[in-house]
This record gives sequence, C-alpha cells and structure tokens, in this order.
Amino acid sequence: MLTYRPETARGGWPGLIRAYERYLPITDKTPVVTLHEGNTPLIPVPTIAERIGKRVQVWVKYDGLNPTGSFKDRGMTVAISKAKEAGAAAVICASTGNTSAAAAAYAKRGGLRAFVLIPDGKITQGKLAQALIYGAEVIAIDGNFDRALELVRGTAERYPVTVVNSVNPYRLEGQKTAAFEIVEALGDAPDWLCVPVGNAGNITAYWMGFNQYCRENRCSTLPQMMGFQAAGSAPIVEGKIIEKPETIATAIRIGNPANWTRAIAVQNESRGGYHSVTDPEILEAYRLLAAEGIFCEPASAASVAGMLKLRDAIPADGRIVCVLTGNGLKDPDTAIAQASATFHRQVSPDLTSVARLMGFA
Ligand code: F0G
Repeated sequence: MLTYRPETARGGWPGLIRAYERYLPITDKTPVVTLHEGNTPLIPVPTIAERIGKRVQVWVKYDGLNPTGSFKDRGMTVAISKAKEAGAAAVICASTGNTSAAAAAYAKRGGLRAFVLIPDGKITQGKLAQALIYGAEVIAIDGNFDRALELVRGTAERYPVTVVNSVNPYRLEGQKTAAFEIVEALGDAPDWLCVPVGNAGNITAYWMGFNQYCRENRCSTLPQMMGFQAAGSAPIVEGKIIEKPETIATAIRIGNPANWTRAIAVQNESRGGYHSVTDPEILEAYRLLAAEGIFCEPASAASVAGMLKLRDAIPADGRIVCVLTGNGLKDPDTAIAQASATFHRQVSPDLTSVARLMGFA
C-alpha cells in the first residue's frame, strides 16, 4: 500500500509554513496552501568571487527554484493561506510578472479566484504563460506597474478582494524565511546580503528574518543590506518617484516602491545602502552566472552586478550572499538575445556536415 506523507515529500521538506510554523502567524485554523516552496539551495560561485580580487566568499541564494520559479512563492503560501482562513473568495495583485504567477498558482490551489493586473506588453512570456495556465483572470492595463498597484488598492477599498502584493504583511512574513535558510546553511548571517530591489518588499522581509533569528539566538551577527535597483528605475537611489521607469530587468521596472519607507529603515538599521546598476552591468552579471551553470532572470542578476560594482567596498574575508530572485526560464527571449554561444542553423542532416561543424572532419 502506498502512503503519502507531506512531511517527507521533497526530501522531508513539508513547505515553509510547516517548517517554520513557530516563527509565522499561523494557527491551528489556518488552512495551509502549499506547493512545498522554500528550502532552496545556497550555491557557491567561486569564479565570480575571484573577480573581486581579494579573499571573499560568495554564494547565491537560488530562489528561482521555487515551485513557480521565484521567491514570491514564499510570500504567497502565507498570504493565500491567511486569505483563505479569513474567508476571502478572491485575491488581487499588480505585477511585473512573478507575483502574478505565484498568486495565480496558490489561489487556484486554495480554491480562490485570482485577478492580476499587469502592464500590457511589459511582462515576459514565461510569466504571462504562468498566469494564464494557472487560470488567473488577467487584466493587462495600458499603464505601468505603479499605476496597476494604484488600481489594485482602489479596487480592494471598494470590493471584496484581498490584496496579495507585498503591502500585505503576510507576504513579508513568508519571504523572511529565506533569511532563516541562509543562516542555517552558513551557521550565521553573512557580512553582506545583496538583493535586487523593486517594491523593496523582499529586502524588508530578509531584514525581518535575520533580526528574528538573532533574537532567537540562531545567529550572532546581522548583515549589511545592499539593495540594487536598475539604473532607469532607481527611485530609492535617486530619492524621487520615477514617472517612466525603464530597464531590461522588467521584474524591477518600478518607479514608486510600495515599501519605500521600510526600505530606508532597513538601510539605516543595517548600515547598508542602495545603488543602481545599468542594463549592461546587469546583463554582464547574468552571463557570468550562466557561466557558473546558474540561469536566473535579468532582475535577479542585479544583485551580482551590484556586488561587483561595489567590489572596492567589500570587506576583506567578506562573506557575501547574492539573492537570485527568479528563474532564467521566465525570460527566454533575453537569454537567446544575450547568449554568445555558437548556434549553427539549417544544417544539412548528415554526418559529414555535422562532423565538419564540430571540427572533426
Ligand atoms: N526580483 C524579481 C525577479 C522580482 O520579480 C521582483 C519583484 C524583485 C526582484 C523585487 O522584489 O519588489 O520585493 O523589491 N517583482 C514584483 C512582481 C514587483 O510583480 O513580480 P521587491
């Protein structure tokens, strides 16, 4: 007879709510909606570390390995479970693509309707495919993410829908668990945590997680939090709303971050900083990661691009973690456009032609 026990599914990993229940706002009454998210690998990237030119250790937290391919699953398992507990019938979010994919998946699994507002033509193919196949009700607006979020907030004020953007506190509660996992993998917090920043929900959540683990004596130090925005979409760095944000890293194409005030508090409390990285710098880091066998989406590579840009400020013997927020498969168009690999096309299907191209004949 077969017995399925969720606790042992995925190598004993029950999903982050069950794994970290005591650190989360979960009760006996919370219906847990999970896809066994979390427990993503922390991978050393030695050839990237070498580029820094001093003795440092660098790891990437590869959150693109979550069930829908981004860190949003961490927040969404908690947000959807709590929405369901509260009796919600529908959820809504604005998104540059990853939040909508995660909201769509978890809402379906939990039996809720999901409405997602996206900037028309400005989300990648993979993300759009996800929202559609998971069965969300997709509303593509003729406007950017910031406008979509305003509409989401306005809708939720008037109608019975729960917002699952990172203004929903349960999202940050779920996302803070990535900090727990980093501490468990390293035995303590790193010196620097490098994070790509859009709405600044994730950097805020990580800071919450490290602080909570320190209070529980699970770690003894706190990292400096280093946030990186794309140069055409860097409102926190520039200290002003960007009306028309632009960047190839569409996931972080945001001009008016929802968690701006919190982002500044994280900077002050952690003695961290916000910096911008240009699209060419982002794409260079994206290719360097691929050369280590790691395929992330362009927005994610902003963390590595930022670390390399600030290499002179990195402490000697520093231990650095760069967060890779989303999977490269989300954005195949950019990958194909940026790859410099040899690609022979229209090759005659015979051994001599193939061998000749391989340099053997
Ligand atoms: N990286 C990726 C891949 C993202 O999708 C996002 C945000 C971020 C970084 C930035 O995280 O907003 O917490 O600072 N994506 C949101 C979305 C906006 O709609 O998917 P943040």
